[in-house]
Amino acid sequence: MDEKKDSRRNFITKFAPATFWGSLAVWGGSLLKFTMPTLLPQESKKIKLGMPSDFPNGTTKIFEKERVVLFADDDGLFAISTTCTHLGCVVKWTGRGFDCPCHGSKFDAQGEIIQGPAPKALKWFKIEKLPSGQLSLNLDKTVESGVKEQFYV
Ligand code: FES
Repeated sequence: MDEKKDSRRNFITKFAPATFWGSLAVWGGSLLKFTMPTLLPQESKKIKLGMPSDFPNGTTKIFEKERVVLFADDDGLFAISTTCTHLGCVVKWTGRGFDCPCHGSKFDAQGEIIQGPAPKALKWFKIEKLPSGQLSLNLDKTVESGVKEQFYV
């Protein structure tokens, strides 16, 4: 019986410090990663769209993976993020605005808040014309809400 107790005590004495230090190392690594800025360059997020003539007035194109909707109206092209400004859920384009399925925020067709809890309007992304004449949607750059790009000649 005493041998069994000794065996258990030996086991605990041997492995408890390893468990403690292992846990501390994992916790410390997580804390370090959390507090360090991202040092590696991020992949540029640009989407080639095509020629300006591919987006006639009235166009609505949803990019689900990239979380953005592209629109063309009389004033030009513009792209609105579908990431809710509350907690990041994907808002749905309803044809008249954006609804968030998570907590009920609603945005108008320009991404402005109609109903919270979202604290801010949806982001607008930059649309650029490449030297080739094609359009590119730059998800790394935002523009002020209401800035529409005219690419028609
Ligand atoms: S994440 Fe959209 S309302 Fe909360």
